Amino acid sequence: MLATKRILLVIGGGIAAYKSLDLIRRLKERGAAVRVVMTSAAQHFVTPLAAGALSHDRVFTELFDREAEQDIGHIRLSREADLLIVAPATADLMAKMAHGLADDLASAVLLASTRPILLAPAMNPAMWANAATRRNAAQLAADGVRFVGPNAGAMAERGEDGAGRMAEPLEIVAAVEALLAAGGPLTGRHVLVTSGPTHEPIDPVRYIANRSSGKQGHALAAAAARAGARVTLVSGPVNLPAPSGVTVRPVESARDMLAAVEAALPADVAIFAAAVADWRAASEAPEKMKKDGGALPPLALTENPDILATIAHRTEGRPRLVIGFAAETQNVVGYAQAKRVRKGCDWIVANDVSAQSGIPGGVMGGDANEVHLITPEGSEAWPRASKTEVAERLIARIAAALGEKESES
Ligand code: CTP
Repeated sequence: MLATKRILLVIGGGIAAYKSLDLIRRLKERGAAVRVVMTSAAQHFVTPLAAGALSHDRVFTELFDREAEQDIGHIRLSREADLLIVAPATADLMAKMAHGLADDLASAVLLASTRPILLAPAMNPAMWANAATRRNAAQLAADGVRFVGPNAGAMAERGEDGAGRMAEPLEIVAAVEALLAAGGPLTGRHVLVTSGPTHEPIDPVRYIANRSSGKQGHALAAAAARAGARVTLVSGPVNLPAPSGVTVRPVESARDMLAAVEAALPADVAIFAAAVADWRAASEAPEKMKKDGGALPPLALTENPDILATIAHRTEGRPRLVIGFAAETQNVVGYAQAKRVRKGCDWIVANDVSAQSGIPGGVMGGDANEVHLITPEGSEAWPRASKTEVAERLIARIAAALGEKESES
């Protein structure tokens, strides 16, 4: 199964491109999210419309596409994939890759990638046998690029045969599965994440809430799933889709959230990214409160349970790594260090939510974040990055820390 896997398929210009349409279908059937980049030569053989209809996503073709560069450039395209496939990989694309050329979107995405790359070459047998292609294939293999095919057999051109036929879609799928089966750094772990705001009812139609969008928590859940973990995401009310491969437990109030968190334990790691309301109405009115001739209704508050502190202070069944978030407007590191000790958690991810943070759209609700990671060893300032990048970096740190803890014990 390829559920939760994000695959970027680069379609090169060759008659075998028609098989790549079937490949998209096969990958989707197995649950993968597939994004397609097409070279301009590829578009002589199949259309972006066909590829987009099968992948259920837009197809990317231009390096300097004003619109696409704004919302998703070539760097993001390659970063947001777990694996890249080039099918058909033409002699020309292989030559570009072997030499690090990046003069179109396909080659730029491949050059920018840090993820595994699988090539399914397809070309005329004489081109495949040519000394230049041999050199390029050897160089690519030495660079860690993987190959599936080409197969021998009749070619599309009449009368030609020999090695050069693109591997069949199901062979490519099997190669993808084998490459990804090695698993991520969190394979076999259970990661629990809280996300979003909580809603604290005042009466049947009114509630207390906050501006949390859930973007950072959801990005963490998605990144943990991509790293191979089983993920439970306990989420307050948000307008975000469930990340693929993640079990979502929707909740409303802080008390619901605590109950859902306790029900989801045991976990290896718990990340508390939710902006839990500190207070709730002391009593919830059973009927809608009515305006009463100008008299203001009294609104008495009481404190909510602290979910992070409750779990971090457990003596039995405490996750090995408990991570909290801290939203501060001043003395960010100092307050967060004190909070780490007070709440009993291992790490705190602190962010500056003041207007001075300079983050477009603000930290709450925006797409960027600039955090400090507070651990017992000290604090690290991380550069401003997208919430997805912050999530990936934190998940990588978590995987490393779990590995260290295991080798100590
Ligand atoms: N948290 C929680 N349950 C609560 C309140 C907070 O689990 N009832 C968690 C949040 O998910 C977050 C951390 O605790 O991980 C934030 O701590 P909090 O005490 O809410 O601090 P801030 O809101 O950042 O700031 P302040 O100390 O000013 O309240």
